[in-house]
Amino acid sequence: MSFRPPKGTDDIGAPESNLWRDVLGEWERWADLFGYPLVMTPIFEATDLFERGVGTDTEVVTKQMYTFTDKGGRSLTLRPEGTAGVVRAFLDSGAKGPWKGSYSGPMFRHERPQAGRRRQFWQVGVEYLDVEGPAADAEVIELGYRFLTAVEVPGLKVILNSLGDAVCRPGYVEILRRYLAEKRDVLCADSLPIVDVNPLRVLDCSVCAPVLVDAPGMKDHLCEPCADHYTQVKKSLEGLEVPFSEDARLVRGLDYYTRTAFEYVATNLEAAQNAVGGGGRYDGLAESIGGRRAPGVGFALGVDRIILASTRKPEVRVDVYLVSESGPIEALIAASALRRDGLRVDLDTEGRKVEAQFKAANRLGARAVVVVPEDGDDVDVRVGEERARMPVASVAKWLEERL
Ligand code: HAM
Repeated sequence: MSFRPPKGTDDIGAPESNLWRDVLGEWERWADLFGYPLVMTPIFEATDLFERGVGTDTEVVTKQMYTFTDKGGRSLTLRPEGTAGVVRAFLDSGAKGPWKGSYSGPMFRHERPQAGRRRQFWQVGVEYLDVEGPAADAEVIELGYRFLTAVEVPGLKVILNSLGDAVCRPGYVEILRRYLAEKRDVLCADSLPIVDVNPLRVLDCSVCAPVLVDAPGMKDHLCEPCADHYTQVKKSLEGLEVPFSEDARLVRGLDYYTRTAFEYVATNLEAAQNAVGGGGRYDGLAESIGGRRAPGVGFALGVDRIILASTRKPEVRVDVYLVSESGPIEALIAASALRRDGLRVDLDTEGRKVEAQFKAANRLGARAVVVVPEDGDDVDVRVGEERARMPVASVAKWLEERL
Protein backbone atom coordinates (compact mmCIF):
# COMPACT_ATOMS: atom_id res chain seq x y z
CA MET A 1 0.00 0.00 0.00
CA SER A 2 1.38 3.39 -0.89
CA PHE A 3 -0.69 5.60 1.40
CA ARG A 4 1.08 7.39 4.23
CA PRO A 5 -0.35 9.86 6.73
CA PRO A 6 -0.51 13.35 5.18
CA LYS A 7 2.63 15.45 5.68
CA GLY A 8 2.88 16.80 9.22
CA THR A 9 0.39 14.30 10.68
CA ASP A 10 1.04 11.09 12.62
CA ASP A 11 -0.41 7.69 13.36
CA ILE A 12 0.02 7.05 17.06
CA GLY A 13 -0.33 3.51 18.41
CA ALA A 14 0.76 1.56 21.50
CA PRO A 15 2.96 1.88 23.45
CA GLU A 16 3.17 5.66 22.69
CA SER A 17 -0.62 5.99 22.70
CA ASN A 18 -0.60 4.66 26.28
CA LEU A 19 1.45 7.67 27.32
CA TRP A 20 -1.02 9.94 25.47
CA ARG A 21 -3.89 8.41 27.42
CA ASP A 22 -2.04 8.88 30.71
CA VAL A 23 -1.25 12.52 29.91
CA LEU A 24 -4.81 13.28 28.74
CA GLY A 25 -6.20 11.50 31.82
CA GLU A 26 -3.94 13.59 34.04
CA TRP A 27 -5.17 16.70 32.22
CA GLU A 28 -8.80 15.88 33.02
CA ARG A 29 -7.87 15.37 36.66
CA TRP A 30 -6.16 18.78 36.94
CA ALA A 31 -8.90 20.59 35.01
CA ASP A 32 -11.40 19.15 37.52
CA LEU A 33 -9.22 20.03 40.50
CA PHE A 34 -9.31 23.69 39.38
CA GLY A 35 -13.02 23.62 38.47
CA TYR A 36 -12.83 23.86 34.65
CA PRO A 37 -15.57 21.66 33.11
CA LEU A 38 -15.21 20.32 29.58
CA VAL A 39 -16.50 22.42 26.69
CA MET A 40 -16.67 20.91 23.20
CA THR A 41 -16.79 23.19 20.17
CA PRO A 42 -16.72 22.36 16.42
CA ILE A 43 -13.43 21.45 14.75
CA PHE A 44 -14.27 23.87 11.92
CA GLU A 45 -15.67 27.38 12.26
CA ALA A 46 -16.43 30.32 9.98
CA THR A 47 -13.11 31.59 8.57
CA ASP A 48 -14.07 35.09 9.61
CA LEU A 49 -14.03 34.08 13.28
CA PHE A 50 -10.29 33.39 13.16
CA GLU A 51 -9.54 36.40 10.96
CA ARG A 52 -11.25 38.72 13.41
CA GLY A 53 -10.30 36.86 16.56
CA VAL A 54 -6.70 35.78 16.00
CA GLY A 55 -5.80 38.78 13.80
CA THR A 56 -5.41 39.30 10.05
CA ASP A 57 -1.69 39.94 10.20
CA THR A 58 -0.68 36.99 12.32
CA GLU A 59 1.20 34.13 10.64
CA VAL A 60 -1.52 31.75 11.80
CA VAL A 61 -4.12 33.59 9.71
CA THR A 62 -2.02 34.69 6.74
CA LYS A 63 -0.10 31.46 6.16
CA GLN A 64 -1.28 28.54 8.24
CA MET A 65 -5.03 28.09 8.02
CA TYR A 66 -6.71 25.10 6.39
CA THR A 67 -9.55 26.96 4.72
CA PHE A 68 -12.15 25.46 2.39
CA THR A 69 -15.49 26.33 0.84
CA ASP A 70 -18.30 23.93 1.69
CA LYS A 71 -21.09 22.83 -0.63
CA GLY A 72 -23.21 25.76 0.53
CA GLY A 73 -20.48 28.23 -0.51
CA ARG A 74 -19.44 29.10 3.06
CA SER A 75 -15.80 29.72 3.87
CA LEU A 76 -14.84 27.44 6.75
CA THR A 77 -11.51 26.82 8.48
CA LEU A 78 -10.21 23.88 10.50
CA ARG A 79 -9.56 25.46 13.88
CA PRO A 80 -5.91 26.55 14.23
CA GLU A 81 -6.46 27.15 17.95
CA GLY A 82 -9.24 26.81 20.53
CA THR A 83 -9.74 30.22 22.13
CA ALA A 84 -11.74 31.98 19.40
CA GLY A 85 -14.19 29.03 19.17
CA VAL A 86 -14.66 28.78 22.94
CA VAL A 87 -15.27 32.53 23.29
CA ARG A 88 -17.74 32.37 20.39
CA ALA A 89 -19.57 29.45 22.07
CA PHE A 90 -19.67 31.33 25.38
CA LEU A 91 -21.12 34.46 23.77
CA ASP A 92 -23.55 32.37 21.75
CA SER A 93 -24.84 30.61 24.89
CA GLY A 94 -25.84 33.95 26.40
CA ALA A 95 -24.22 32.91 29.69
CA LYS A 96 -23.04 35.52 32.18
CA GLY A 97 -19.72 34.72 33.78
CA PRO A 98 -17.51 34.19 35.63
CA TRP A 99 -17.44 31.15 33.37
CA LYS A 100 -14.85 28.39 33.05
CA GLY A 101 -14.24 25.87 30.29
CA SER A 102 -11.53 23.34 29.45
CA TYR A 103 -10.89 21.64 26.13
CA SER A 104 -8.83 18.90 24.57
CA GLY A 105 -8.57 18.12 20.88
CA PRO A 106 -6.82 18.43 17.54
CA MET A 107 -5.87 21.79 15.99
CA PHE A 108 -4.59 22.40 12.45
CA ARG A 109 -1.88 24.71 11.15
CA HIS A 110 -0.11 24.50 7.81
CA GLU A 111 3.45 24.79 9.15
CA ARG A 112 6.79 23.39 8.03
CA PRO A 113 6.71 20.06 9.87
CA GLN A 114 9.47 18.99 12.23
CA ALA A 115 9.69 17.33 15.65
CA GLY A 116 7.16 19.13 17.86
CA ARG A 117 5.76 21.16 14.96
CA ARG A 118 2.93 19.28 13.27
CA ARG A 119 0.13 20.21 10.89
CA GLN A 120 -2.38 18.35 13.05
CA PHE A 121 -1.48 18.67 16.72
CA TRP A 122 -3.30 18.25 20.01
CA GLN A 123 -3.98 21.03 22.47
CA VAL A 124 -5.45 20.94 25.95
CA GLY A 125 -6.42 24.29 27.40
CA VAL A 126 -8.69 26.42 29.51
CA GLU A 127 -10.54 29.69 29.11
CA TYR A 128 -11.81 31.74 32.06
CA LEU A 129 -14.30 34.41 30.95
CA ASP A 130 -15.96 37.52 32.35
CA VAL A 131 -13.09 37.93 34.80
CA GLU A 132 -10.90 41.01 35.20
CA GLY A 133 -8.84 40.51 38.35
CA PRO A 134 -5.23 39.35 38.54
CA ALA A 135 -6.20 36.34 40.70
CA ALA A 136 -7.85 34.80 37.62
CA ASP A 137 -4.59 35.10 35.66
CA ALA A 138 -2.65 33.56 38.54
CA GLU A 139 -5.07 30.64 38.91
CA VAL A 140 -4.84 29.86 35.21
CA ILE A 141 -1.03 30.04 35.20
CA GLU A 142 -0.86 27.83 38.28
CA LEU A 143 -3.11 25.18 36.70
CA GLY A 144 -0.82 24.82 33.67
CA TYR A 145 2.25 24.71 35.89
CA ARG A 146 0.85 22.02 38.22
CA PHE A 147 -0.32 19.84 35.33
CA LEU A 148 2.99 20.09 33.44
CA THR A 149 4.85 19.23 36.64
CA ALA A 150 2.57 16.21 37.20
CA VAL A 151 3.27 14.87 33.70
CA GLU A 152 7.01 15.18 34.32
CA VAL A 153 8.11 17.83 31.87
CA PRO A 154 11.75 18.35 32.87
CA GLY A 155 13.37 21.78 33.16
CA LEU A 156 9.94 23.45 33.12
CA LYS A 157 9.99 27.26 33.11
CA VAL A 158 7.17 29.79 33.27
CA ILE A 159 7.95 32.98 31.34
CA LEU A 160 5.88 36.06 31.99
CA ASN A 161 5.33 39.47 30.44
CA SER A 162 2.69 42.17 30.24
CA LEU A 163 1.58 43.48 26.85
CA GLY A 164 -0.39 46.43 28.19
CA ASP A 165 -3.79 47.44 26.87
CA ALA A 166 -5.45 49.77 24.39
CA VAL A 167 -4.48 52.74 26.61
CA CYS A 168 -0.74 52.19 26.97
CA ARG A 169 0.25 49.86 24.15
CA PRO A 170 -0.06 52.29 21.19
CA GLY A 171 2.42 54.69 22.84
CA TYR A 172 4.88 51.88 23.48
CA VAL A 173 4.51 50.49 19.94
CA GLU A 174 5.44 53.94 18.61
CA ILE A 175 8.56 54.04 20.80
CA LEU A 176 9.48 50.54 19.63
CA ARG A 177 8.87 51.46 15.98
CA ARG A 178 11.25 54.42 16.28
CA TYR A 179 13.88 52.23 17.94
CA LEU A 180 13.56 49.56 15.21
CA ALA A 181 13.69 52.17 12.43
CA GLU A 182 17.18 53.05 13.62
CA LYS A 183 18.18 49.39 13.48
CA ARG A 184 16.92 48.79 9.94
CA ASP A 185 20.33 47.91 8.52
CA VAL A 186 20.84 45.05 11.01
CA LEU A 187 17.35 43.49 10.92
CA CYS A 188 16.72 40.23 9.03
CA ALA A 189 14.79 40.05 5.74
CA ASP A 190 11.65 38.73 7.49
CA SER A 191 11.59 41.48 10.12
CA LEU A 192 12.26 44.47 7.84
CA PRO A 193 8.86 44.55 6.13
CA ILE A 194 6.95 44.32 9.43
CA VAL A 195 8.72 47.12 11.31
CA ASP A 196 5.93 49.52 10.40
CA VAL A 197 2.97 47.14 10.36
CA ASN A 198 3.66 45.02 13.42
CA PRO A 199 6.80 46.09 15.30
CA LEU A 200 5.89 43.91 18.31
CA ARG A 201 6.35 40.80 16.22
CA VAL A 202 9.95 41.82 15.41
CA LEU A 203 10.73 41.30 19.09
CA ASP A 204 9.74 37.66 18.64
CA CYS A 205 12.29 37.06 15.84
CA SER A 206 15.06 34.72 16.99
CA VAL A 207 17.39 35.88 14.18
CA CYS A 208 17.16 39.53 15.23
CA ALA A 209 17.30 38.80 18.97
CA PRO A 210 21.06 39.42 19.36
CA VAL A 211 20.84 42.95 17.90
CA LEU A 212 17.75 43.88 19.90
CA VAL A 213 19.02 43.25 23.42
CA ASP A 214 18.54 46.88 24.41
CA ALA A 215 15.06 47.20 22.83
CA PRO A 216 12.53 49.10 24.99
CA GLY A 217 10.22 46.68 26.84
CA MET A 218 6.45 47.07 27.30
CA LYS A 219 6.73 46.63 31.04
CA ASP A 220 8.51 49.98 31.38
CA HIS A 221 5.69 51.74 29.53
CA LEU A 222 2.58 50.28 31.18
CA CYS A 223 -0.21 52.61 32.30
CA GLU A 224 -0.98 52.54 36.01
CA PRO A 225 -3.88 50.03 35.93
CA CYS A 226 -1.86 47.63 33.73
CA ALA A 227 1.24 48.02 35.93
CA ASP A 228 -0.86 47.29 39.05
CA HIS A 229 -2.43 44.26 37.42
CA TYR A 230 1.01 42.92 36.44
CA THR A 231 2.40 43.48 39.95
CA GLN A 232 -0.56 41.62 41.48
CA VAL A 233 -0.18 38.67 39.09
CA LYS A 234 3.48 38.36 40.07
CA LYS A 235 2.68 38.64 43.80
CA SER A 236 -0.02 35.97 43.48
CA LEU A 237 2.34 33.59 41.68
CA GLU A 238 4.90 34.08 44.44
CA GLY A 239 2.22 33.28 47.02
CA LEU A 240 1.24 30.16 45.06
CA GLU A 241 4.90 29.13 44.82
CA VAL A 242 4.85 29.03 41.05
CA PRO A 243 8.37 29.98 39.93
CA PHE A 244 8.55 32.30 36.92
CA SER A 245 10.94 34.58 35.10
CA GLU A 246 10.12 37.75 33.23
CA ASP A 247 10.96 38.32 29.57
CA ALA A 248 10.19 41.69 28.01
CA ARG A 249 10.50 40.11 24.53
CA LEU A 250 7.65 37.64 25.03
CA VAL A 251 4.95 38.88 22.64
CA ARG A 252 3.07 35.69 21.55
CA GLY A 253 1.99 34.94 17.99
CA LEU A 254 -1.72 35.78 18.19
CA ASP A 255 -3.08 39.32 18.21
CA TYR A 256 -5.76 39.10 20.91
CA TYR A 257 -3.57 39.43 23.98
CA THR A 258 -3.79 42.29 26.47
CA ARG A 259 -1.90 42.61 29.75
CA THR A 260 -0.65 39.20 30.97
CA ALA A 261 1.16 36.95 28.47
CA PHE A 262 3.01 33.79 29.42
CA GLU A 263 4.66 30.67 28.09
CA TYR A 264 5.64 27.33 29.55
CA VAL A 265 9.00 26.19 28.24
CA ALA A 266 10.57 22.70 28.41
CA THR A 267 14.29 23.39 28.41
CA ASN A 268 15.13 19.84 27.25
CA LEU A 269 13.48 20.42 23.84
CA GLU A 270 15.02 22.11 20.76
CA ALA A 271 14.82 25.87 21.26
CA ALA A 272 12.58 26.51 18.22
CA GLN A 273 9.87 24.15 19.55
CA ASN A 274 10.42 24.28 23.28
CA ALA A 275 7.23 26.17 24.18
CA VAL A 276 5.01 23.42 25.56
CA GLY A 277 2.25 25.95 26.07
CA GLY A 278 1.27 29.57 26.13
CA GLY A 279 -1.54 31.88 26.96
CA GLY A 280 -2.59 35.16 28.40
CA ARG A 281 -5.35 37.67 28.92
CA TYR A 282 -7.54 38.78 26.02
CA ASP A 283 -9.87 41.51 27.28
CA GLY A 284 -10.90 42.68 23.79
CA LEU A 285 -11.35 39.35 21.97
CA ALA A 286 -15.10 38.93 22.57
CA GLU A 287 -15.78 42.40 21.13
CA SER A 288 -13.49 41.88 18.17
CA ILE A 289 -15.64 38.90 17.11
CA GLY A 290 -18.80 40.99 17.39
CA GLY A 291 -19.87 40.18 20.94
CA ARG A 292 -20.26 42.11 24.16
CA ARG A 293 -17.29 42.91 26.35
CA ALA A 294 -16.13 39.69 28.07
CA PRO A 295 -12.58 39.94 29.43
CA GLY A 296 -10.85 36.61 29.86
CA VAL A 297 -7.67 34.67 30.35
CA GLY A 298 -6.55 31.19 29.32
CA PHE A 299 -3.84 28.98 27.90
CA ALA A 300 -3.29 26.05 25.58
CA LEU A 301 -0.66 23.36 25.95
CA GLY A 302 0.75 21.33 23.06
CA VAL A 303 0.37 17.65 23.95
CA ASP A 304 2.66 16.49 21.09
CA ARG A 305 5.45 18.55 22.64
CA ILE A 306 4.59 17.44 26.18
CA ILE A 307 4.93 13.80 25.04
CA LEU A 308 8.30 14.59 23.43
CA ALA A 309 9.57 16.31 26.57
CA SER A 310 8.06 14.09 29.27
CA THR A 311 10.23 11.60 31.12
CA ARG A 312 7.16 9.70 32.30
CA LYS A 313 6.81 5.98 31.51
CA PRO A 314 3.42 4.86 30.22
CA GLU A 315 1.20 3.07 32.71
CA VAL A 316 0.91 -0.72 32.10
CA ARG A 317 -2.64 -1.36 30.96
CA VAL A 318 -2.69 -5.16 31.09
CA ASP A 319 -3.49 -6.60 34.54
CA VAL A 320 -3.53 -10.23 33.45
CA TYR A 321 -2.16 -12.11 30.49
CA LEU A 322 -3.84 -15.49 30.14
CA VAL A 323 -1.57 -18.30 29.02
CA SER A 324 -3.47 -21.38 27.93
CA GLU A 325 -2.10 -24.90 27.86
CA SER A 326 -5.45 -26.21 26.66
CA GLY A 327 -6.35 -24.03 23.67
CA PRO A 328 -7.82 -20.60 23.04
CA ILE A 329 -11.50 -21.32 23.73
CA GLU A 330 -10.83 -22.32 27.37
CA ALA A 331 -8.62 -19.25 27.73
CA LEU A 332 -11.28 -17.01 26.24
CA ILE A 333 -13.89 -18.33 28.69
CA ALA A 334 -11.53 -17.71 31.64
CA ALA A 335 -10.70 -14.24 30.24
CA SER A 336 -14.37 -13.38 29.97
CA ALA A 337 -14.93 -14.23 33.64
CA LEU A 338 -11.91 -12.14 34.74
CA ARG A 339 -12.94 -9.19 32.56
CA ARG A 340 -16.40 -9.22 34.09
CA ASP A 341 -14.66 -9.11 37.47
CA GLY A 342 -13.01 -5.84 36.36
CA LEU A 343 -9.54 -7.04 35.36
CA ARG A 344 -7.90 -5.84 32.15
CA VAL A 345 -7.07 -9.08 30.36
CA ASP A 346 -5.28 -10.00 27.16
CA LEU A 347 -4.70 -13.43 25.65
CA ASP A 348 -3.74 -15.34 22.54
CA THR A 349 -6.69 -16.44 20.44
CA GLU A 350 -4.57 -18.23 17.82
CA GLY A 351 -3.49 -21.31 19.79
CA ARG A 352 0.20 -20.38 19.74
CA LYS A 353 2.84 -22.30 21.72
CA VAL A 354 2.92 -21.74 25.48
CA GLU A 355 6.42 -20.14 25.30
CA ALA A 356 5.15 -17.65 22.70
CA GLN A 357 2.27 -16.77 25.02
CA PHE A 358 4.66 -16.14 27.94
CA LYS A 359 6.74 -13.94 25.65
CA ALA A 360 3.65 -11.92 24.73
CA ALA A 361 2.86 -11.46 28.46
CA ASN A 362 6.38 -10.16 28.95
CA ARG A 363 6.27 -7.83 25.97
CA LEU A 364 3.06 -6.23 27.25
CA GLY A 365 4.49 -5.94 30.76
CA ALA A 366 1.40 -7.76 32.15
CA ARG A 367 1.21 -7.35 35.92
CA ALA A 368 0.12 -10.97 36.45
CA VAL A 369 0.02 -14.17 34.39
CA VAL A 370 -2.79 -16.67 34.75
CA VAL A 371 -2.14 -20.14 33.29
CA VAL A 372 -5.10 -22.28 32.25
CA PRO A 373 -3.78 -25.82 32.65
CA GLU A 374 -4.38 -28.75 30.31
CA ASP A 375 -6.53 -30.51 32.92
CA GLY A 376 -8.29 -29.61 36.15
CA ASP A 377 -10.61 -26.69 36.89
CA ASP A 378 -8.24 -24.42 38.83
CA VAL A 379 -5.88 -21.91 37.21
CA ASP A 380 -2.30 -21.08 38.13
CA VAL A 381 -1.82 -17.40 39.09
CA ARG A 382 1.64 -15.76 39.07
CA VAL A 383 2.64 -12.32 40.29
CA GLY A 384 6.39 -11.80 40.42
CA GLU A 385 7.79 -14.73 42.42
CA GLU A 386 4.45 -15.53 44.06
CA ARG A 387 2.33 -18.40 42.68
CA ALA A 388 -1.04 -19.86 43.70
CA ARG A 389 -3.67 -22.27 42.34
CA MET A 390 -7.33 -21.38 42.62
CA PRO A 391 -10.71 -21.34 40.81
CA VAL A 392 -11.06 -18.54 38.20
CA ALA A 393 -13.76 -16.98 40.35
CA SER A 394 -11.22 -16.30 43.14
CA VAL A 395 -8.54 -14.65 40.97
CA ALA A 396 -9.82 -11.06 41.03
CA LYS A 397 -10.05 -10.99 44.83
CA TRP A 398 -6.59 -12.55 45.23
CA LEU A 399 -5.02 -10.12 42.77
CA GLU A 400 -6.75 -7.11 44.30
CA GLU A 401 -4.39 -7.29 47.29
CA ARG A 402 -1.32 -7.78 45.13
CA LEU A 403 -1.59 -5.50 42.06
P1 HAM B 1 -0.22 29.05 20.85
O1 HAM B 1 0.99 29.58 21.53
O2 HAM B 1 -0.38 29.34 19.41
O3 HAM B 1 -1.45 29.58 21.68
O4 HAM B 1 -0.26 27.49 21.04
C1 HAM B 1 -0.17 26.90 22.31
C2 HAM B 1 0.75 25.69 22.26
O5 HAM B 1 0.30 24.76 21.26
C3 HAM B 1 2.19 25.99 21.86
O6 HAM B 1 2.94 26.45 22.96
C4 HAM B 1 2.66 24.62 21.39
O7 HAM B 1 3.02 23.81 22.50
C5 HAM B 1 1.41 24.05 20.75
N1 HAM B 1 1.48 24.20 19.29
C6 HAM B 1 1.19 25.28 18.55
N2 HAM B 1 1.39 25.02 17.23
C7 HAM B 1 1.83 23.74 17.17
C8 HAM B 1 2.22 22.87 16.09
N3 HAM B 1 2.17 23.26 14.82
N4 HAM B 1 2.63 21.61 16.39
C9 HAM B 1 2.68 21.19 17.67
N5 HAM B 1 2.31 21.96 18.72
C10 HAM B 1 1.90 23.21 18.47
C11 HAM B 1 -2.76 29.29 21.38
O8 HAM B 1 -3.11 28.44 20.61
C12 HAM B 1 -3.74 30.08 22.21
N6 HAM B 1 -5.10 29.72 21.79
C13 HAM B 1 -3.52 29.82 23.68
C14 HAM B 1 -4.49 30.55 24.56
C15 HAM B 1 -5.59 30.06 25.15
N7 HAM B 1 -4.43 31.84 24.88
C16 HAM B 1 -5.44 32.15 25.65
N8 HAM B 1 -6.18 31.07 25.80
